[in-house]
Parts: sequence; C-alpha cells; structure tokens
Amino acid sequence: MTKLLAFAGSTRNGSFNQAILDVAVEGAREAGAEVTLISLADFEMPIFNEDDESEHGIHANAKAFKELLKSHDGFLIATPEYNSSYPALLKNAIDWASRMEEGEKPLEAYKGKVAGIMAASPGGLGGMRALAALRLLLENIGTMVLPNQRSVAKAGDLVDDSGKLTDEKTTRFLKNLGRDTAHLAQKVSGN
Ligand SMILES: Cc1cc2nc3c(=O)[nH]c(=O)nc-3n(C[C@H](O)[C@H](O)[C@H](O)COP(=O)(O)O)c2cc1C
Repeated sequence: MTKLLAFAGSTRNGSFNQAILDVAVEGAREAGAEVTLISLADFEMPIFNEDDESEHGIHANAKAFKELLKSHDGFLIATPEYNSSYPALLKNAIDWASRMEEGEKPLEAYKGKVAGIMAASPGGLGGMRALAALRLLLENIGTMVLPNQRSVAKAGDLVDDSGKLTDEKTTRFLKNLGRDTAHLAQKVSGN
C-alpha cells in the first residue's frame, strides 16, 4: 500500500496549517493511502551545525525523522509563511534529514518521492510565497512536487475554535490534493 508521511511546519496550538493538513490526510486516506501523521514537536532537534554533527553525529530525533521519510513513498506538507518563506522549524528538519550516513545514498529520504504541499495564513496571500520557496527546495533535493498546491488565505475565518476547517470548497480542494498525492505516489513507487 502507498505510504505518505504528513507533517506541518508549525507546532503552534490551534495551527491553521495543522487544520488544513488534517483535511488533506483525510483525502489521501479515502484514496487508499496509508498516512502517518506526525508533529515536528515530537522530533525536537537543535539548529543544524556541522561542528556538532562531526562531534556527536546526527541527532537522534533527526535520525528518527529521516527514517520516517525514508520509509514512506511521499509526503503531505503544510507550511506557514514566515516573512515570505517557510519557517526555520521546517527547513531545519529537512536539512537534518538530508545528511547522509554510512550505507545510505545521497538524499535517500527525498529522491524519487512525491509531495503535495499546502499553506494557510490569516493573510490575503495564503502563504503562496512560502509554497514557491518550498517547491524549489523540495525539487532541488529530488522530490517531485504536485502542480496543484493549495494556499488557504484568511485561514482564521475558515477554521473553528476546535481547529477544524469549516469551509466546504477549501475542504474539497485539500482532499483532492491529498487524493492526487496518494495517486501519484502510488504510480511513482508502484506500492
Ligand atoms: C515571524 C513571523 C513571520 C510571519 N510572516 C508572514 C508572512 O510573510 N506572510 C503571511 O501570510 N503571514 C505571516 N505570518 C503570520 C502567520 O501566517 C501566522 O502566524 C500563521 O497563523 C502561522 O501558521 P500556523 O497557524 O499554522 O501556526 C508571520 C508570523 C510570524 C510569527
């Protein structure tokens, strides 16, 4: 069965990105994918530093995150937009997991994988600049990003107090993104 790993670039309580990710995950599951939904809060890692890496090796949480990426066929990623790009939390995790260890191929966690990406923001652009930057990053490390990305503007009006997305049209778009990611991951991986 096709396996997708889903994570958001925010660990904030009531995160809008977590809310939209949940919907895309639902869409992927309805399409038959097995989805592992994680929070980066459970994989806390220091800001990457090559001296630390030389001295102590890859941080245990970074290794665990990398193993998860490696064992899945594709990813669903929801990113906030911080100053027109994706947050340091997301970049740091991606950087750690890009480090090669003995017995691994370069960028093994990312190469040949597919990703469905989405963003949510209380602002009017919905994080679309962060998506452009994230797409560039992922494609440069060998992950194929689906063309139908989703940015959700004015997210504060669309997510209720329990952190659930309430807007029907946005729900449909995000479910379709989850479904399409599952289908492409299945085609590419053959799983
Ligand atoms: C440091 C920082 C920079 C931000 N820059 C932007 C920005 O460039 N564009 C935008 O739409 N929102 C920006 N925001 C607002 C975030 O979109 C907002 O905090 C959002 O709720 C974060 O996503 P989350 O709800 O998933 O945590 C910024 C927030 C922070 C903390």
